[in-house]
Amino acid sequence: MHTVNRLPDLRSAVDSLRRTGEIALVPTMGALHDGHLTLVREAKRLAASVVVSIFVNPTQFGPNEDLDAYPRQLAEDSRLLEAEGVDLLWAPGVEEVYPRGFATNVSVSGLSAVLCGASRPGHFDGVATVVAKLFGQVRPDIALFGEKDWQQLAIIRRMARDLDFTQPFADRIAGVPIVREADGLAMSSRNRYLSPEDRARAAALPRLMRDATQAIGSGGDVLVALEQLRVGLLKAGFASVDYAELADAQSLQSLKELGKAPARLFVAARIGGTRLIDNMAVN
Ligand code: PAJ
Repeated sequence: MHTVNRLPDLRSAVDSLRRTGEIALVPTMGALHDGHLTLVREAKRLAASVVVSIFVNPTQFGPNEDLDAYPRQLAEDSRLLEAEGVDLLWAPGVEEVYPRGFATNVSVSGLSAVLCGASRPGHFDGVATVVAKLFGQVRPDIALFGEKDWQQLAIIRRMARDLDFTQPFADRIAGVPIVREADGLAMSSRNRYLSPEDRARAAALPRLMRDATQAIGSGGDVLVALEQLRVGLLKAGFASVDYAELADAQSLQSLKELGKAPARLFVAARIGGTRLIDNMAVN
């Protein structure tokens, strides 16, 4: 595996990979776990070569969020990616991505205003901007994102369509199903912040969400199921619930009842100072 951290080196490495066929990009912020590695394995299946980026993007962290504390372990990540047979690791510094004078913001309206966008103002502008940059830098044929961050995936698909990131790129943003721990908790780089006690309690999140999706899917009242979910999370030891919503899987608009279109349950809740998110299909 080749590792580069300067743009000219990235360009020449990508140019030589392109001669062998299509390129898949897996953008990450590092602290890699099996969820990330599943994206890498899927990327290998879809394209001739795989580029992984590791960049802890400062612009998607709010002023009171965990930018400084966010886990950084480039040597360990690099070893994991090498073992997966990744071709190229793009690990730029902040000044390489946001040089002095950087003044552009990519903002996807509508989709960015709801769910996590409501509790993390500016977050999705930071995500859309850095992903647009990564697309411009690597110019991949395919890019892969996890359904763990369903809203992020929807926003990036919208952006790729709206900004014509190479044709037919819009159809080549692949979503990968959520990878979970044995007890059902969605894998996340942030799970390592949890104390052993909170880590055990956190399994209530997917369990109570499963209960709610079953209740709603079998005709139960949506608002009652969501209230039971909120109360259940607080009883299980969560400190607060940012949101627990049923929403249209595509538009992300909140739903008070289940219709014919695919709907998903979305939750963000805090435990021991850590914010966890999850989502599940309902119908
Ligand atoms: P990060 O949180 O490192 O996640 C990188 C990719 O891995 C994302 O597409 C995310 O959805 C996916 N992923 C994380 N946990 C997963 C799990 N348990 N199952 C399946 N996929 C999982 O998401 C980001 O970084 C950043 O916002 C980024 C897109 C890199 C822009 O900075």
